[in-house]
Formats: sequence, C-alpha cells, structure tokens
Amino acid sequence: MASIGIFDSGSGGLSVYREIVKLLPQERYLYFADNAHCPYGEKTAEYIQDRGRAITEILLGMGADIIVVACNTATAAAIATLREEYPDTPFIGMEPAVKPAALGTETGVIGVLATAGTLKGSKYLKTKGRFEDDVRIVEHVGEGFVELVENGILDGPEAYETVRKSLQPLLDAGADRIVLGCTHYPFLKPVIESIAGPGVQVIDPAPAVARQTVRILEANAIPTGNGPFSIDLYFSGEPDSLRRIFKLV
Ligand code: DGL
Repeated sequence: MASIGIFDSGSGGLSVYREIVKLLPQERYLYFADNAHCPYGEKTAEYIQDRGRAITEILLGMGADIIVVACNTATAAAIATLREEYPDTPFIGMEPAVKPAALGTETGVIGVLATAGTLKGSKYLKTKGRFEDDVRIVEHVGEGFVELVENGILDGPEAYETVRKSLQPLLDAGADRIVLGCTHYPFLKPVIESIAGPGVQVIDPAPAVARQTVRILEANAIPTGNGPFSIDLYFSGEPDSLRRIFKLV
C-alpha cells in the first residue's frame, strides 16, 4: 500500500484526488488544504515555496511516499525547488492541458483559465510557446472562482455571474476548447459548460495527472493495491470548506 500525500491551497486538489482514487482505490491518502493561506494565485513564488516546504515536512512526517502538488500555482512556483530540496521524494505536478486542447480545436482558438501565478510561470509559458504557432491561445484569470469554490458556491446566480465575466472573453475570441488550469475550477465545470454551450469542450487535466501518479509509483517501485483505503484530511484554516467539497468527491 502506498501513502500518497496531496496538497493544494484549499479544496481544489480534491478534483485531482477524486481521479487518483479511481485508479488507486486501496491506498492511504493524506490530503493537506492550506486554506489559511488561500488563495495562492497572487502570492509571490517565495511565499508559495515556503508553504510548499512546510507542507512537505508535514506530509513526509505522516509517512507520505510521494507527493502530488495538486495545485497549478504551487507547481509553477515551487515544484522545482521541492524536487531539489527533497531529492528522495517523487513529486507529481499539474500540467495545463494545452496539448489536448491544441490537438482537438476546430476553430484554431483555445482558451485557458488559470490563476495569475500559473499564467506567468515559466512552465506554462514554455508549453504555450510549443503550440502558439499552430493555434491561438487566449487566457483569462478565473477571477473569484477559487473563492466561489472555497465558499461552496458551485451553482446559482452568483456562480454564473462570476464565471461568465472571465469565460465570456474566451468565447468571444472563438475558443472551442477551454483548459482548466487551476484545480479549483473543475468544481465549477457544470457552470462553465452550461455558459459555453455544446460546441465547446472543457478540459480538466486531473485524469492525466492520475495516470502519471500510477506511472511514478511504478517507476519508484512503491507497491500499491494491497492496503485498506484511508484518507486523512489536514487543513491550516477552518475545516468547513474542505468538508463541504469532500462530500462531493
Ligand atoms: N488550486 C490552485 C491552482 O490549481 C490554487 C488556487 C489559488 O489558491 O489561487 O492553481
């Protein structure tokens, strides 16, 4: 049985957890929501690196064999530092799904919704650079999306109004693929899909990250599949938002 540590600034990483647990249903999960420090989106890279270190220490102290950085912003800001400082621990990060979007688009325009930190990170800029000659990539910060999810507002007029403001510019530009570049956003996927309409595909990278988690466990010869399932939820702030979203996964 593997002990799989997962962290995010809050409840968003549960959208990644729910995909991992489909493939690996018999492991021990340790989920840390850093909700006292949420959102990460506008914080400096140094700040997020410090949080990443502190959380890594906690998860390793609890016996994590691997750590999934289930946060695009923390992946952009901190995963390279964490890999350097904890060379014995395999880290798995988030990858905005630009490639499948670029390969699938029929209009030649793809939209990316993410935090400001992710959109200016070198990892994203590099990925974008690989596809920019072939497709037009339009971006928008999902303004207020993280707060909606943390407050459990996943439907209703406030959710629709907030989502529409950031999504509409991408639709107006002709995007027929919308990449969710923040792990909180999949909890708003029904709202995003309903505003975007049937001609637009909304892409969540979590299933690909779950498959990568399986590969990394195998590559590191960490045995899986033989233990009782368990999950421990940790949080640095209040427990309600995490409990609320956990009921949905
Ligand atoms: N869930 C996060 C991400 O994937 C962080 C959002 C935030 O805290 O701003 O980027």
